[in-house]
Amino acid sequence: MAEKTLASEKVLVVNFGSQYAHLIARRVREIGVYSEIVDPAELSPKLIEEVKPRAVILSGGPSSVYEEDSPRIGEWILGLGIPVLGICYGHQLLAKLAGGSVKRGRGEYGATTIELTTKDPLFEGFEEEEIVWMSHADYVENIPASRAMVLAKSRDTGYVAAFRLRDKPIYGVQFHPEVVHTPKGMKLFENFLQSIAGLEPTWRVEDLVGRIVSELKTTIGSRDKVLVAVSGGVDSTTVALLLKRAIGDRLVAVFVNHGFMREGEVDEVLSMFRKLGINVHYVNAEREFKEAIKNVRDCEEKRRIIGAKFAEIFKKIAESDPMIKWLAQGTTYPDVIESGKPRGADRIKSHHNVAALPEWLGLKVVEPIKMLYKDEVRRLAVALGVPREIAYRHPFPGPGLAVRIIGEVTDEKLRIARKASRIVEEELKNNSIYQRVWQAFAVVGDDKWVGVKGDKRVEGYIVTIRIVESEDGMTADWSRVPPEVLNRIAWRITSEIPEVSMVTYSITTKPPSTIEPC
Ligand code: XMP
Repeated sequence: MAEKTLASEKVLVVNFGSQYAHLIARRVREIGVYSEIVDPAELSPKLIEEVKPRAVILSGGPSSVYEEDSPRIGEWILGLGIPVLGICYGHQLLAKLAGGSVKRGRGEYGATTIELTTKDPLFEGFEEEEIVWMSHADYVENIPASRAMVLAKSRDTGYVAAFRLRDKPIYGVQFHPEVVHTPKGMKLFENFLQSIAGLEPTWRVEDLVGRIVSELKTTIGSRDKVLVAVSGGVDSTTVALLLKRAIGDRLVAVFVNHGFMREGEVDEVLSMFRKLGINVHYVNAEREFKEAIKNVRDCEEKRRIIGAKFAEIFKKIAESDPMIKWLAQGTTYPDVIESGKPRGADRIKSHHNVAALPEWLGLKVVEPIKMLYKDEVRRLAVALGVPREIAYRHPFPGPGLAVRIIGEVTDEKLRIARKASRIVEEELKNNSIYQRVWQAFAVVGDDKWVGVKGDKRVEGYIVTIRIVESEDGMTADWSRVPPEVLNRIAWRITSEIPEVSMVTYSITTKPPSTIEPC
């Protein structure tokens, strides 16, 4: 549980499976009520006493409540004086605690019709039959009528789709109101938060600036300097702006050009910071980085070398001024929650960020946006004066185009990746698709394809276009971009980049693939 929070009134979301919990917490915040995620093991009557949440929501998760080591909450939760809503696994857990039985059933997956059997404020605005999204194998077989009322059933299976305790606003719903496939999901959350818990939907991330800035002032004090690595991305830019407001010129913002930026990006970033009034220390290390990864073909090796070079540069800067005592990081809320879990064994890629830096540099860490989701950071950035086109830019990996080039990073492949990516971005912007997708870029490797250009045989590079839709980068689907747009992208790439003779479109989801090729 984070020690600093961003609102006095809040809802706790108990995390029984992190993706579900994040979606719920985000939906609650979208309604205008501040929410935080907590692990089941941390949840106790003492914590409730300290935090004084106005409501608790139990998320879904992959376990079964009847399994020996499944995550639990004690029966005390049923005695709470505040509203509780259990979703999927949370629903089954509450039913079990109330004396009901939970079993493995037929399974309901996807759009499912439920029938409302009893009127209740939770379903205000719902018809007698509604479509909801289900994803479960276990189900609540029965629940003692003396303690609870069934509010809804699945039409086809008759399984309990929703119930409430007779004497308390403690609810369970088998379906997932947090996913967009439950059309009235947001209405259910509004009913729960506003009508049942009596919360006002007044929380806005834009109103947080003053609170974060004053917390930063208290944490850092009146003398220390703070180092921040800026990339031009929305997270580090927002962190720099908040710090600028808190400590003025004691902010040491460093922008390292590793040579793997997109076309025109270095100038754009420097000019943006000038306009924002942030004095950026610019380090052009293009040659150094290129030299360091010369002849390196392996992805992880490339990532490691680039990360180590960054660290080296920052060490020099940190050591040059004894007043630098802090490193500010653009950690966001999902990173905070995930960091509690073991990483490493199942690590897919060593993401380039400065996570290991503070220890190595002997600096203290400050993370001003660690309680916020990406879309909230974007809104905060706009409130701080960041131009919309930067605040809403696609995520770009720390090692830049170096991880969008398969095999060795040569000048030729870098030039191709740059030009092709610019074409992809331009075409998506021209066709109003850019803002609809999570990321869109071009990848180049070493494979060649025989082509004919002006009646001549050429052996040109293959460029792969990757355009994906995603909520958070953890899973992704390839975007069904209209064929005529793809056609124009392919035509422009092969005409404007003579070294390319084939353009392919990636149609693999994540998983099993990842978003970046490397
Ligand atoms: P993958 O390729 O693992 O990427 O599916 C998931 C998301 O993370 C971004 N990404 C990075 N972000 N430093 C970052 O800050 C990195 O080194 C890095 N590598 C990948 C990627 O662009 C996608 O949005």
